[in-house]
Amino acid sequence: MITVERIGALRAECDEARGLGRSIGFVPTMGFLHEGHRSLMRAARTEDDVVVASIFVNRLQFAPSEDLDTYPRDRRGDAEAAAAEGVDVLFMPSEEEMYSSPPLTNVHVDGLTDGLCGASRPTFFDGVATVVTKLLAIVGPCRAYFGRKDFQQLAVVRRVVADLSLPADVVGCPLVREPDGLALSSRNAYLDPNEREAATVLYRALGTAASSIAAGERHAGEIRAALGATIAAEPRARLDYSAVVDAATLEPIGRLEGEILLAVAAEVGGARLIDNMIVTVEGTEVSIDAGVLATPA
Ligand code: PAJ
Repeated sequence: MITVERIGALRAECDEARGLGRSIGFVPTMGFLHEGHRSLMRAARTEDDVVVASIFVNRLQFAPSEDLDTYPRDRRGDAEAAAAEGVDVLFMPSEEEMYSSPPLTNVHVDGLTDGLCGASRPTFFDGVATVVTKLLAIVGPCRAYFGRKDFQQLAVVRRVVADLSLPADVVGCPLVREPDGLALSSRNAYLDPNEREAATVLYRALGTAASSIAAGERHAGEIRAALGATIAAEPRARLDYSAVVDAATLEPIGRLEGEILLAVAAEVGGARLIDNMIVTVEGTEVSIDAGVLATPA
């Protein structure tokens, strides 16, 4: 694995690989790598000839009140994890390299960013869309891997790539969980043991909601209320939102039919956590995509 810090060097590596007829799999991250990130690297390793991963804590997607300064970082551990997953090129740019002057260009996606996380983090998806556009402009034609853990982010990235004709195939990958159901997240590092236990309430709420859909419940309002009530009953969690939306449009729905996203966000201790499940309802047939358990290498 080679580590590059300069935009020009990454572009040269990617151009050279494509010149030799090799496909590029690209995994953008903010580092503090865990099994969720590593599963994306493994997917890229399986599909593509050259695996490029980036580690950059993107200031643009943090509001002033958020955790930019305390966001967990571990350059050495990340380099080891990336190498162990067969990453060929690790891009670790400095703040100055990425934003040598404050960017005046902002990539904004309408509609898809209004609800769910966009409601409480109004500038978040602009920051994500802007940095992902920039990264894809540097890497060039590739397959780009994103986790369904951040379902709304995946939808936003797909839309940016489609609307701007960026030369990337976006690949959505399964949400990866701890054995007790907690979705892996770099922010889980903020949780003390008590909070860590309480944090499973997101998964438990989603699981109960999905089961009641499987048992025949078809009113989105009932499901949304039950999700919220389960999380509100956990004293160490503070609910941000519970939502039952169309998985394609992210618009709220009334009756449950088709592909539906159940999504929740809550603060536990100092960590803002999100989780989701995708439920597909076709008449009386119900299938649930709750993600997968981590399989440590
Ligand atoms: P980060 O939170 O580091 O996540 C990087 C990628 O890993 C994203 O595609 C995310 O969905 C995926 N991921 C995180 N936890 C996961 C889990 N438990 N299961 C499956 N995939 C998981 O998302 C970002 O960084 C940033 O917004 C970024 C896209 C890099 C732009 O700055």
